[in-house]
Amino acid sequence: MRAVDIIAKKRDGGQLSEEEIRHFVEGYVRGDIPDYQAAAWCMAIFFQGMTSEETAALTEAMAHSGEMLDLHHIAPRVVDKHSSGGVGDKTTLVVAPLVASTGLPVAKMSGRGLGFSGGTLDKLESIPGFRVELSRDEFMTQVARIGLVVAAQTAELVPADRHLYALRDATATVESLPLIASSIMAKKLAGGADAIVLDVKVGQGAFMRTVGEARALAELMVGIGRHHGRDVTALLSDMNQPLGHAVGNALEVAEAVATLQGHGPADFTDHCLTVAAHMLLLGQKAPSLDAARELAREQLRSGAAWDRFKAMVAHQGGDIEAVEAPQEALPRARLTEPLAAPRAGHVAHMAAREVGLATVILGGGREKKGDAIDHAVGVVVHKKVGDRVEAGEPLMTIHANDAERLAAARERLKKAYRLVEEPVAPLPLFHGVISTSSGSTPGP
Ligand code: URA
Repeated sequence: MRAVDIIAKKRDGGQLSEEEIRHFVEGYVRGDIPDYQAAAWCMAIFFQGMTSEETAALTEAMAHSGEMLDLHHIAPRVVDKHSSGGVGDKTTLVVAPLVASTGLPVAKMSGRGLGFSGGTLDKLESIPGFRVELSRDEFMTQVARIGLVVAAQTAELVPADRHLYALRDATATVESLPLIASSIMAKKLAGGADAIVLDVKVGQGAFMRTVGEARALAELMVGIGRHHGRDVTALLSDMNQPLGHAVGNALEVAEAVATLQGHGPADFTDHCLTVAAHMLLLGQKAPSLDAARELAREQLRSGAAWDRFKAMVAHQGGDIEAVEAPQEALPRARLTEPLAAPRAGHVAHMAAREVGLATVILGGGREKKGDAIDHAVGVVVHKKVGDRVEAGEPLMTIHANDAERLAAARERLKKAYRLVEEPVAPLPLFHGVISTSSGSTPGP
């Protein structure tokens, strides 16, 4: 079997067999198939798509490219969550410790930034000393000790995703339904969780632009989970504007810390409580979604979630003082510049994608595979859809370390807002739920 024939078959719209998919994934991970052929294959998949059988085979091949964890000796039930990628999405930093603080273990393999969307690993690495590259043994020991770990794919765990994820980021092949579904579900299956909550982002600042596309992605992933005997709930959540206020690695860690301490932005806190409630429900920690939400609220109120976050930081080598005093001790940009409203009005549109791309321009994301990133830079959004703003009031503040990059980001961000005379309704947080147990429903 030759890689070039598999690429050509997909390029011409053919359906790949399980064997061909496995051959390609295994060859790529071993280094027999080079990056340029894998890039061509991803582009062929991007344009031609995959059937649900092909996507399931790709997921399976990726999951089995490394070890498949079994965590049942640690706890009878382990939960996990994953976001399909958005702007300002720091949900894991709050929800994983919150859920773990109830005694329900969370063992999570996260990703790095992809295109305009941020990545949990990059955010965590803005905490001085924090290690995301754990060995399999370190990963397992930490879940057993504190019931919480957030780490990268490794040579032992889903190595195929580790390579493909970075390659897709650099070859404009991220926005592909089968590639996203297989990347996410391979990590979830290999991570050993019994129950999984998927946060499927939809809108202008997400890989899925319409509710229809997001629903198709959610159904594909829920189907893969069902096939593997996992309980899966997918939330379709709005990503037309950034989640919370902060976008950029250290800025987002600071906002997550504020949320864990009970004074985060209302929309972000509400989003976290909903995701956590679904995890607690699937983890059988509460009899109903309302009870699960109340339990989640209590874990924030009591400080238990914040304590568990600090335990994770300490176990992964991070500087506790930096998270206790994020404004002083996390990386900070040298230059800050407010972007003022040109006139009074109501915010009708606040382009999340532009804010994400501006953050990449500032150095907070990667333009090509392996680029180093600047953890300090980003954007803090002050006004969101539905808010009233007066002329000259700051719409956002840009955090930069380089004057030229700041100027380029400013030009992009000027176009991110649309102000109108008449009042505008705030955006909803969620657009629906799809789950292995109850099918599809419209609300959260
Ligand atoms: N998150 C992932 O883990 N993979 C993707 O492809 C997109 C978002």
